[in-house]
Amino acid sequence: MKKETYTAVVLAAGKGSRMQSKVKKQFMKLLGKPLVYYALLAFQESTVDEIILVTGRESIDYCRKQIVEKYGFTKVKEIVAGGKERYESVYEALKVASMDYVLIHDGARAFLDEEIISRSMKGVAEYNACVIGMPVKDTIKIVDKDQYAIETPKRSLLWQIQTPQCFITDEIRQAYEQMMAEEAKNITDDAMVMEQYGDRRVKLIEGSYENIKITTPEDIVIGKALLKMHRVKRKTIQWLRTFQH
Ligand code: CTP
Ligand code: MG
Repeated sequence: MKKETYTAVVLAAGKGSRMQSKVKKQFMKLLGKPLVYYALLAFQESTVDEIILVTGRESIDYCRKQIVEKYGFTKVKEIVAGGKERYESVYEALKVASMDYVLIHDGARAFLDEEIISRSMKGVAEYNACVIGMPVKDTIKIVDKDQYAIETPKRSLLWQIQTPQCFITDEIRQAYEQMMAEEAKNITDDAMVMEQYGDRRVKLIEGSYENIKITTPEDIVIGKALLKMHRVKRKTIQWLRTFQH
C-alpha cells in the first residue's frame, strides 16, 4: 500500500494588529526565539513530509536566513508570500502544496504538540476533513446589533476551533478555487471553505486548551508560562529516560 504523505502549512503573513507591537507578532521573541519558530519546530520533529511557510513578501528573506536556515528546518520546502486576508495566504500555500493531505496551521499557535499533530494526521486519513478544537468552557450568547442577548445556544454543542485544519489537498484546493472566484468572503477558517464550497463534512477532533493563538498582549504572558511548563516537562521526561538505560 502506498504511504500517505502530508504537507504542513504554517501561516505567518498576518499584520498582528491586535498585538499592537512594533515587531510583528509572529516574529516577537518568546524565550529567545521568534514565535513562529515553535510551530515550525513541532512540524519539523513530526512525521509530516514537507512544510510550506507563508509570510509577508518583505519577511521572506528574514524567515529564510534567521529562522529556516538558522534552526535547520529542513522540511521547509518553500517560503511563499501571503495575501491581505488569512484565506488569501492559505490559497497561496495550497497552490504549491504537493502531498496527499494538508494540515493548515496558524503560526501564532505556538503550543501544538506531537499528539495534536499525530491526531490531525490520523484524523484526516480517517475522516478526509477534520479540524482541531475544544468544547467551550464559557456560556456563549448570540447578541443583536445593540448588544442585547437574543439566544443562548446549548453549550454542550459548542466547540472553539483551533488549528491544524486538515484536508485532502486536492479537495481543499478546489474548494478554495471556487471561493476565490466569488465576491463576498467573510471567511474565518478553512473548515468554512469546505462547508460552503466542498463536499466533505468536517469532523472535529479534540486538541488541547493549551493550543492557544497568541493574539493580544496578555497572551504573551500566558505563552511564556506555557513554554516554561513544557520545558520542565521535557526535562523531566529526559531525566526519567536516563534511568531506563
Ligand atoms: N495570517 C496570514 N495571512 C493573513 C492574515 C493572517 O498568514 N493575511 C496568519 C497570521 O500570521 C496568524 C494566523 O494567520 O499566524 C492567524 O491570524 P491572526 O491571529 O488573526 O493573526 P493576524 O491577522 O496577524 O492578527 P490580527 O488579526 O490581530 O491583525
Ligand atoms: Mg487576523
